[in-house]
Amino acid sequence: MKRIGVLTSGGDAPGMNAALRAVVRVAIYKGLKVSGIRRGYQGLIEGDIFEMDVSSVGDIIQRGGTILQSARCLEFKKDEGIKRGVEVLKMFNIDGLVVIGGDGSFMGAKRLSDAGIPTIGIPGTIDNDLAYTDYTVGFDTAINTVVNAVGNIRDTSSSHQRASIIEVMGRSCGDIALYSGIAGGAETIIVPEIDFTYDDICKKLIQGQNRGKVHSIILLAEGVGKPYEFAEAIKNKTGIDVRVSVIGYLQRGGSPTAFDRILASKFGSKAVELLIEGKKSRALGTNGNKVFDMDITEAITMKKEMDHCMYDLADMLSI
Ligand code: F6P
Repeated sequence: MKRIGVLTSGGDAPGMNAALRAVVRVAIYKGLKVSGIRRGYQGLIEGDIFEMDVSSVGDIIQRGGTILQSARCLEFKKDEGIKRGVEVLKMFNIDGLVVIGGDGSFMGAKRLSDAGIPTIGIPGTIDNDLAYTDYTVGFDTAINTVVNAVGNIRDTSSSHQRASIIEVMGRSCGDIALYSGIAGGAETIIVPEIDFTYDDICKKLIQGQNRGKVHSIILLAEGVGKPYEFAEAIKNKTGIDVRVSVIGYLQRGGSPTAFDRILASKFGSKAVELLIEGKKSRALGTNGNKVFDMDITEAITMKKEMDHCMYDLADMLSI
């Protein structure tokens, strides 16, 4: 292994830059050359590739987004796209590739590995929707952003004795809602993985009101449904004034937390080590405080389970 490539792909996540910095610096420290690939797989098939050195990744550990930029590349889902990717990597003498992204990006990495390019996946997505790892890079920053927003909304919600529905991202995964709901002291958390009834939600709101609560925070995961319809239904059943806040892309940007920077640095370093050891088609994950690697196909086929203990805890804390 003489030269490795690195790209960021799919929805960006805070901490991707920290991971990139670690990949580049550790690779150079170990005597490898590094090629940066802009705009994910789109840039790969277009040959948008440049030489990276130690300074290319200076002053980025604290920055959100990704300096390599990202893309969702439909062409790379087809055989033709993979074939072109392999051709370009060979043309640029890239012997191994580090892919920083979520499950869709890992699928591309797996297919490149199958086509003969050793590839390692670093989980980078705010959604925390990869079953095999405790955390993905970006999740911690996103939930901290949401918790700050919940605090602000709670202030105005209390002043006006309103209920607030706060919609957060996560696709079909409820982790952002669950974790930030617990940390933000939400009264109700609604996630796609767990059934709910309007009657339960409304009963809780009325009970809270009866014991003198002046606000109520409902954390709604985007995968469940439309927040304005929820607001309408709850208002009609309870008579309580309900407002909606959609946090949206605010939760995808911002300076990464220390946790995300450290996790990203560990992943970046491990990815380079694995390529040097001749490994391919591996996904990196974290369990407890340890970083581990496993087969990327197995990693993306594992089904994510909701942490029911955490959900029950949230329920008990919000009586
Ligand atoms: O996967 C990250 C994520 O932010 C999801 O939470 C969200 O549903 C999606 O990306 C939004 O994607 P896009 O940036 O393509 O609008």
